[in-house]
Amino acid sequence: MKTFYKLLLLGYIILGCSNDSSEEYVDIPAGPTPSPLNIPQIFENQLIDPIIPADNPQTEEGIALGKKLFFDPILSLDFSQACASCHMPQNSFTDSNTFSTGVNGDLGIRNSMPLFNLAWNFDEHFFWDGRSFGLEHQASLPVEDPTEMANTWETVVDRLINHPEYPELFQAAFGNAPISRNLATKALAQFERTLISANSKFDNYFLGTASLTPQEQNGLAVFMDEDRGDCFHCHGNPNNPLWTDNAFHNNALDSTFSDNGLGDITGDPADNGKFKTPSLRNLAYTAPYMHDGRFATLDEVINHYSEGLQNSPTVDPLMKTVNQGGVQLTEQDKADLKAFLLSLSDPTFLNNPDFIP
Ligand code: HEC
Ligand code: HEC
Repeated sequence: MKTFYKLLLLGYIILGCSNDSSEEYVDIPAGPTPSPLNIPQIFENQLIDPIIPADNPQTEEGIALGKKLFFDPILSLDFSQACASCHMPQNSFTDSNTFSTGVNGDLGIRNSMPLFNLAWNFDEHFFWDGRSFGLEHQASLPVEDPTEMANTWETVVDRLINHPEYPELFQAAFGNAPISRNLATKALAQFERTLISANSKFDNYFLGTASLTPQEQNGLAVFMDEDRGDCFHCHGNPNNPLWTDNAFHNNALDSTFSDNGLGDITGDPADNGKFKTPSLRNLAYTAPYMHDGRFATLDEVINHYSEGLQNSPTVDPLMKTVNQGGVQLTEQDKADLKAFLLSLSDPTFLNNPDFIP
C-alpha cells in the first residue's frame, strides 16, 4: 500500500509539474535568445563596462545575422565587396593596403582600421576623425560610400527581401519588423561587438599566467618612462587593457596637413591634424600604420617618435620633445620597445572560429 500511495503522489507531482511547465512554456514569447558579451577577465578586473545600446541587445540570432552580412558582398553595388574585404580576420579585421580600393576601383584616403574591442570605445566616436557616432550609425556608411561599396540602402534592402535565406534570419533576429537599413546595421553592430581581443602574451602576463622576456620588460619600461619612450599618456598603461585613450591627438607626423582629420569634423582649426589614438593591440597583423598608412613597419613608427617629429601649431603638448625631433631612443631601447609592442598581439583572435565565416 505504501508504495501505491508513493506512486500516486509521484504521479500527481509529475502531472502537476508538467502542467506548470507547459503553462510557463506557453507564456514565454518566442523571440531571439539573449547572448550577453563574453567579458574577458582582464576587462572585468578594470571594471570597464561595454557600451550596448538599450534598443539593440546582443542576441544569438542577431549576431549570426550580423556575421553573415559582414562577410557577404551582397552589400556592395556589383556584389564584389564585403565588409570583410577591407576588414579581414587574418589581419585583425583590417587590410594590409595603404588605402583600400572600393568597388569602382577608387582609392579611399585613409588606412582601414582594425576592428576589435569596439564595445569599449568610450565616447563612441568611430573613424580616424571620429565623424561617426555609435557602431550602428557607422555600419550604415560603407554601403553608400562611393569609394567603398558604392551602393544604396534601398537596393540592399530590396536584395535582402528577395533573398532565399535573409528574410528568415531577420525574422529570427528581430521578429516581424520589416527588413530595413536600421535592422541590418543593428545586426552588423551586434556581430562587431563580439570581436573581443584579450588574449595576448601581455594579457596573460598581467593575469600572472605568462612571463615577459627581459627584453619585453625593458620595452615596457621604455614605454612608461617619461624620459625615454613616454608613450603611455595617449596609448595607456597595463591597467588599461584597451591600449588607447580613445581620444584625438596630433602626434607630430606633419608640419602642414593634407588631411585635417578631426578639424574637418569640428570645424575648429585647433583640431587640425588630430586623429584618433589607435589601440596598440595586434600591431603584428595591422601594418601599414597611421591614418594614411605611411609607415610600413613598426621600426619606422618608432623612428618617427624617436627622431622624426614635425612641429605644427596643433601638435599635442604631450609630444614634449618635438623641438629636438623626438625622444631620442638608443638602438637597444628601440628594439626592446618593439618587442614589448609585439607582446600586445593576440594570435588567438585571428583564429577564433566565431569570427570566421
Ligand atoms: C573599401 C574598404 C572598406 C569597406 C568595404 C568597409 N570598410 Fe570599414 N573602414 C575602412 C576604412 C578605410 C576605415 C577608416 C576610414 C576613415 O577613418 O575615414 C574604416 C573604418 C571602419 C570602422 C571604424 C573603426 C574605429 O575604430 O573607429 C568600422 C567600425 C568599420 N570600418 C566597419 C565596417 C563595416 C561594418 C563595413 C561593412 C558594412 C565596412 N567597414 C566596410 C575601409 C572599409
Ligand atoms: C600625444 C599622444 C601620443 C603619444 C605620446 C604617442 N602616440 Fe602613438 N599615436 C597617437 C596618435 C594620435 C596616433 C594616430 C596618428 C595618425 O594616424 O595620424 C598614433 C599612432 C601610433 C601607432 C600606429 C598604430 C596604427 O594602428 O596605425 C603606433 C604603433 C604608435 N602610435 C606607437 C606609439 C609609441 C611606441 C609611442 C611612444 C614612443 C607613442 N605612440 C606615443 C598618439 C600618441
